[in-house]
Amino acid sequence: MLDSTMSGELQKQIKFRNHKTKSHQRYSCTKPGQKCSFIRQHFPRIRILSDSKSSSRTVPCIVMQGKAGEQLTWLGQRGFVGRFQLVYWDPPFFSGKERAAPNGSFSDQWPSLQEYLNFIREHFARIVPFLSPTGFVVLHCDYHASHYLKILGDELMGYENFRNEVIWHYTGRRQKAIVRINSKHDSLLIWAKSDEARMNPIFDNWDRDYYIRMKKQQVHVDEDGREWIWGHKGKGQSHAYRIYLEEVLAQGRAVDSVWDIPIINTSARERVGYPTQKPVKLLERVVSLLTQPGEWVLDVMAGSGTTGVAAWPLERRVCLGDSNPEAVAITVSRLKNLSVNENV
Ligand SMILES: C[S@@+](CC[C@H](N)C(=O)[O-])C[C@H]1O[C@@H](n2cnc3c(N)ncnc32)[C@H](O)[C@@H]1O
Repeated sequence: MLDSTMSGELQKQIKFRNHKTKSHQRYSCTKPGQKCSFIRQHFPRIRILSDSKSSSRTVPCIVMQGKAGEQLTWLGQRGFVGRFQLVYWDPPFFSGKERAAPNGSFSDQWPSLQEYLNFIREHFARIVPFLSPTGFVVLHCDYHASHYLKILGDELMGYENFRNEVIWHYTGRRQKAIVRINSKHDSLLIWAKSDEARMNPIFDNWDRDYYIRMKKQQVHVDEDGREWIWGHKGKGQSHAYRIYLEEVLAQGRAVDSVWDIPIINTSARERVGYPTQKPVKLLERVVSLLTQPGEWVLDVMAGSGTTGVAAWPLERRVCLGDSNPEAVAITVSRLKNLSVNENV
């Protein structure tokens, strides 16, 4: 089902799956030494998924196969400039590794750091115009290049628009280390398009015992049996007011910039075997923090499509793409599966 708020023209264009406005010659050999078969294809290839079976997904989900630049050209031609509330971006990390896994592979090997940074800069600069005036861009990276990417993003988005570096902290195998200690976090660098951009407060559950330990206060019980501790208003006012535990615990703990979310373990149901697949829970949090239902979310290097698997059931309008056909096939299959099984 397509977005009812879209203009008729845009709807027509989006329905037009095999668009012919931009064509690229792609030449492929089936095997080395074999006669080459020259296949002319149009990129990006577009699929629009809609889910009439599910009451929750009445918004469009566009899946694109092609290079990020081709996807952005296609979107630009269809009036998407300035329309995305969130661009989540999880590019290669400059890890130097050949990322190969049972269900896909991509290269994260670069001739030099400079070439990697040129790649990121070129795509970042092209992404910026697609953000809505109140939108956010989230660049997912790790220690290999995060320090350069922060500066690069500040140049393109404005230092004053940098909002947070979220640390995604995870567990996993730890080794005795003598060169460097175990690195168990990624960074999510968040910039806003302008100072008008607003986040949605989100809360974790408080652990009751942890909260009491942290407050370093004795727990009292009032005449109705309700537990409370003293709240203080600064020096000399340590018994200023009562904090009722049930109220604090019910409200929850406003999230901070360190997120403890487990990586996908080998037996997890959501694991699809694509290298560097991110947990749905992580993307659900990013999407919930930075967007409202009905708003557009873009991921032009979507890998196995985790952004869509998280965002679509939350009723966000989604555009996903990847240059790797294996990734796109997994993405489509995961999204289609959502209609069969709501809880991936
Ligand atoms: C780190 S992975 C993304 C993983 C994804 N977040 C997930 O949960 O599965 C990076 C992806 O970028 C894709 N990629 C690399 N260069 C690209 C380009 N120029 N255009 C589009 N996709 C690209 C790779 O194919 C790979 O799937």
